[in-house]
Amino acid sequence: MQEQQKLGTVIATEDSPSVSEFSFVIHGGSVKRGQFITVKTNEGTAIATVQNIFKTNRYFESAGSVHEYSKSSDMFSAFPVKEWEYTVAETKILGTYTNDGSLQRASFPPSPGSEIYEVETSMLNKFLGLDQEKGIELGEIQQHELKAKFNMTKMLQKHLAVLAMSGAGKSYAVSVLVEELLLRPNEQGRIAVLIIDNHGEYSSLISDPLLKDKVEVIDASEIKIGVPNISAKVFAQLCPSMSATQVRELNNIMDGLRGSGTFDVDKIISAVESAEMKENVSAPLLAWMHEIKAMDIFGEADYPNFDGLLKQGCATILDFKNVLDLRQKQMIVAYISRKLFNLRRKNSAPPYLEIIEEAHNFCPEGSKAEHALSRGIIETLAREGRKFYANICLISQRPVQLSTTALSQCNTQIILRVTNPYDLDHIKKSAESITQQTLEIISSLKVGEALVIGEATNHPVFVKIRKRRSKESHGEKLEDYAIKFEKANKKLAEGKDFI
Ligand SMILES: Nc1ncnc2c1ncn2[C@@H]1O[C@H](COP(=O)(O)OP(=O)(O)O)[C@@H](O)[C@H]1O
Ligand SMILES: [Mg+2]
Repeated sequence: MQEQQKLGTVIATEDSPSVSEFSFVIHGGSVKRGQFITVKTNEGTAIATVQNIFKTNRYFESAGSVHEYSKSSDMFSAFPVKEWEYTVAETKILGTYTNDGSLQRASFPPSPGSEIYEVETSMLNKFLGLDQEKGIELGEIQQHELKAKFNMTKMLQKHLAVLAMSGAGKSYAVSVLVEELLLRPNEQGRIAVLIIDNHGEYSSLISDPLLKDKVEVIDASEIKIGVPNISAKVFAQLCPSMSATQVRELNNIMDGLRGSGTFDVDKIISAVESAEMKENVSAPLLAWMHEIKAMDIFGEADYPNFDGLLKQGCATILDFKNVLDLRQKQMIVAYISRKLFNLRRKNSAPPYLEIIEEAHNFCPEGSKAEHALSRGIIETLAREGRKFYANICLISQRPVQLSTTALSQCNTQIILRVTNPYDLDHIKKSAESITQQTLEIISSLKVGEALVIGEATNHPVFVKIRKRRSKESHGEKLEDYAIKFEKANKKLAEGKDFI
């Protein structure tokens, strides 16, 4: 067995060591907040996590004497002050492994003077409930040489949320997750992946030779919703002020057209024009239908054909960078999500994970919620998806604006750096296992460092997200883009001279 490094010695303070916490003075090694350590007790081996680290020096404990001394002399030259400086770590006991190897709640505190050791990786692996054999490798457990491999069922089946401020590494971490899902051998169980990619960040997964045949990118501006597949109510959602009479008339017209084969918005318009309808019904209806036609997201049939869209071990990326209108985006996401969930329920699509970037735009909380066309289906997936192996991963930089119904169903959360106090408060409320100290660490995380909590791990754990295999699709640097723009403009201007 590997020799564990000794880190320190338990000290006696006013109210510790107790069964729930103790402090130790640090002798060696690197001890950081969030790190796991062990100490022997009468019951077995207690495992604890470092909550806080602070320095102490008895010379500086009394404000009065420090003040007096500093007036007349320099304390550092008068006394061996430096030698009395100690670093103390406060810890919280998480449980005790008894000698038969079972984990129990600690009922005995460690004794003052007991030695503190680094936790053995095998014990930590067992304690966290990781899956080294078949798990999804997101990176390394921070402060420990242990791969952060989370069991796929535990991490995804009860849905996943990835929350952090902009630039903290959400999309990067999810790209790592997607890479893992695509590279799983089929005997370990592979699922299909659908990505609602708002900014075209995921298409670069194709750059990896091992992934390129497993990734399909669809330009969302080319997606068409087949008009015969929807009801008049769907159009009414896009035009909320459409009256009940108008919806009823539109429904009759669509039913009529359904009888004569396939049709699109143009055909509906001609049918409305030639139908016998009161002017005060037909005129606004025609105006609505022209508006809907201008959206350019409806056609005679679905494009692409969503029936065979999802494939096990493959990712389908819907790239929305060319679709700017939020309602159009919501309509497409709502339609596809509903369609795929129905196919899944009929066993006509493989088990899948639907990843939704900027989820607060598609499934919002508060005043915007009522009009968000895609909220209903996303909340349905959050509530019922798991029974059908239809899982969602919601990504958001504004957790406060994300539907609480959907978020509360995401049983695993990956939280990267968050500094906004409102968001921190919201995160704290959504997960009872988050302590004030953990919250402090979240606001000081670096890019690519994440807290994983919930179903996927038995205890909240900090993870350093691994490097991506595939290249990132970097937006161009401002300087480079400006140079390119100037060159292109110059060419254009030169060209004009000849005209
Ligand atoms: N785990 C990581 N390792 C290395 N670099 C990272 C990591 N996570 C994020 N980054 C860097 O930070 C940048 C922002 O990350 P990104 O995932 O786009 O943030 P977000 O989606 O949260 O806005 C990335 O372009 C990348 O360069
Ligand atoms: Mg992002």
